[in-house]
Amino acid sequence: MHAIVAGNWKMHETARDGGQLAHDIRALLDDAWLRNVTVVVAPPFTALGAVGNALAGSGVALGAQNMHWEDAGAFTGEIAPPMLVELGVHYVILGHSERRRYFGESDDDVRRKVHAALEHGLRPIIAVGETEAQRDAGETDACVTRQTRAALDGVERDRLESIAIAYEPVWAIGTGRNCELQEADRVMSLIKGSTSGLEDVPVLYGGSANPSNFAAYLALQSCRGGLIGGASLDAQTFATMVRLGAEARA
Ligand code: 13P
Repeated sequence: MHAIVAGNWKMHETARDGGQLAHDIRALLDDAWLRNVTVVVAPPFTALGAVGNALAGSGVALGAQNMHWEDAGAFTGEIAPPMLVELGVHYVILGHSERRRYFGESDDDVRRKVHAALEHGLRPIIAVGETEAQRDAGETDACVTRQTRAALDGVERDRLESIAIAYEPVWAIGTGRNCELQEADRVMSLIKGSTSGLEDVPVLYGGSANPSNFAAYLALQSCRGGLIGGASLDAQTFATMVRLGAEARA
């Protein structure tokens, strides 16, 4: 089964700069790698068009970082699933901890978005993970189990194959403090066991992943790839991580 290496650009890159970055990434990817790895690039909404153009025909999939669950309506500032589909988006990151923390997204919001994504043929990458306070209080397992189950509540079993889950400990995001391997493996296995039918769903690691530590995560039994933040903003660095993903699955 393919590895998945997804770059979450967060609020970085204008359309012009993002198009250039996507062009640079494309130039560095070896077609042979893409036989073993699914590559997703998730720029800000405003760069989706330019990045989509730069990646057209490359085999690299376009992702969005969020969306609303309604198809249209009076939701100022929001983006609807059909708007993403029209731009050639195939993946959407949902429930990222930055959405939960800074924009008040609840488990129930994430659940609605997951259902909407599946209705529109978009593949959700659902992000779950505990905060540092939750970790220190011994609540990691309860947190990721709750987030995973809530996001998937009511999703029919035969639709789970369109989903990926990213385990991103909040304290590891953008801090350089990546999660210990054994702990990451334990929590990712727990996520797979949290809901029936999840056994074959890809679980990705995210949180200060970089070319030096990524191969070790990929070697974990429970890990099928990565959701990469900072390291996805440099074409060479990201391409190296895609290569590691391909090698892990070769
Ligand atoms: P960093 O790789 O920058 O730690 O970010 C991880 C992340 O949040 C990806 O969604």
